[in-house]
Amino acid sequence: MSSTTPWWRSAVIYQVYIRSFADGDGDGVGDIAGLRSRLPYLKALGVDALWINPWYKSPMADGGYDVADYRAIDPLFGTVADAEQLIEEAHRHGIRIIPDIVPNHTSDQHAWFQAALAAGPGSPERDRYIFRPGRGPEGAEPPNNWVSCFGGPAWTRLPGGDWYLHLYAPEQPDLNWQHPDVHAEFESILRFWFSRGVDGFRIDVAHGLAKDPELPDLASQPAPVDGQPQPYVQHPHWDRDEVHAIYRTWRKVADEFDGDRCFVAEAWADTPERLAAYVRPGGLHTAFNFDFLMASWDAKDLRAVIDDSLAMLSDVGAPATWVLSNHDVMRHTSRYARKTVARWVPNQRYQPQGTADLDLGTRRARAAALLMLALPGGAYIYQGDELGLPEVEDLPESVLQDPIWERSGHTDKGRDGCRVPLPWSGQTAPFGFSQADASAEPWLPQPANWSERSVEAQTGDETSMLELYRTALRLRRAHPALGDGTMTWLDAPADVLAFHREPGFTCVVNLSNEAYQLPEHSTISLASGPIRDGLLEPDHAVWLKV
Ligand code: NOJ
Repeated sequence: MSSTTPWWRSAVIYQVYIRSFADGDGDGVGDIAGLRSRLPYLKALGVDALWINPWYKSPMADGGYDVADYRAIDPLFGTVADAEQLIEEAHRHGIRIIPDIVPNHTSDQHAWFQAALAAGPGSPERDRYIFRPGRGPEGAEPPNNWVSCFGGPAWTRLPGGDWYLHLYAPEQPDLNWQHPDVHAEFESILRFWFSRGVDGFRIDVAHGLAKDPELPDLASQPAPVDGQPQPYVQHPHWDRDEVHAIYRTWRKVADEFDGDRCFVAEAWADTPERLAAYVRPGGLHTAFNFDFLMASWDAKDLRAVIDDSLAMLSDVGAPATWVLSNHDVMRHTSRYARKTVARWVPNQRYQPQGTADLDLGTRRARAAALLMLALPGGAYIYQGDELGLPEVEDLPESVLQDPIWERSGHTDKGRDGCRVPLPWSGQTAPFGFSQADASAEPWLPQPANWSERSVEAQTGDETSMLELYRTALRLRRAHPALGDGTMTWLDAPADVLAFHREPGFTCVVNLSNEAYQLPEHSTISLASGPIRDGLLEPDHAVWLKV
């Protein structure tokens, strides 16, 4: 790869769910001070950048994805000065910073929404959001049948009679992206943070900003053809073509600044073609490849996802960005811990099948890490992936904070199980997440046996997940074949993924039930488990020098 290739084409980006990363002030919630104190850890891990979940001023109805002021840091996390210091220190460590930006909705406490409430029906203030009269007698029915992603209707009625749209919680009113103020405000927010040195943004719900102006009812899903689900021709609020004009403007804003600033879209699209549309020339730089995360632990499924993604992205000249876990989904150590790993159905919460065998899940997670880090493009690591943390599936109901729990009428425990604070050291909670003399316990309880999975416990243990990640990232950084580029599949049985990358690199992943004889090679650079007699055991992966 040439040294002029932009960094984001090959970057390994570590996701910091800031509430749960490290607590600097002892209130049981992670913060910027905690993150700053752990920069040396991240540097030694070998990541290129941090994506930081929303840190803005927020009433925290949805973990900070309800922003009240985009130019202020929430006091729970610190101040703008702390953020500036973090950016500077991270840069000194050679680590870039990518905050989240949340343009689809604000908090109901945002000054604009408060002004809209005060100004009343028909006012220009209300026009920045999506207010409508209801249907039916006295407008008592919502304006249409759209549903909130967190359950229940996507509309809430105000005492004055009008309804407002929220595709997420009622505390997250959707902005009206047909309003010029909304465009101008977000361009200004981007410049505010770019000029403070951030290297890019992760765009929340990037596929949701444009709505059909008629706000029609959601039609039922088109009938499957040959058993294949068919995409909506034009969904009234997801992945509409109009969103791309917004991002072409954002791209120009990013290009005003020096130093390769970049965007990554959280865009859920029905097909790889539609995803690729976000990263066409002049649009965004990258988009998460959720198809990889949704695939089952199955060679055919994974291979199809890899082929389709690479083909579509290379048509538009964009790199892939592989991802296995994030703060919204069941941690992959637990997903893979089921004998049969269910394929994720888009737009539905994941339903694991059967009981978890965490040894199995860990073996597969190790193999998946080597697969992901060997594929062409960039990769995301969700904090704790490198420790092999499982989903905490047995959080007591009394501690749950995700709005999904309430909005689902207590039928869905939501996403807290993947958001439990990290274990750093020691034998008892808070495992170094907060200092020993902290005034409060971690905001979610950590399992007692996480002492075994702490950074301290794994450091220096060559068989640990942490050392596997450290070695893989070190090799990846040094190896000219890895990161951006191309790959070629090698002949292998249907349940084995084997591919070659120039110069001199081969990755083999065994998803079959039998040991697999490795192809000819000069050395084993890295393996997810012991290799005897050149045999790769089931659910293992290896990097070979050839
Ligand atoms: C996607 C974010 O990742 C998720 O955590 C959040 O709840 C929704 N967008 C709404 O902002």
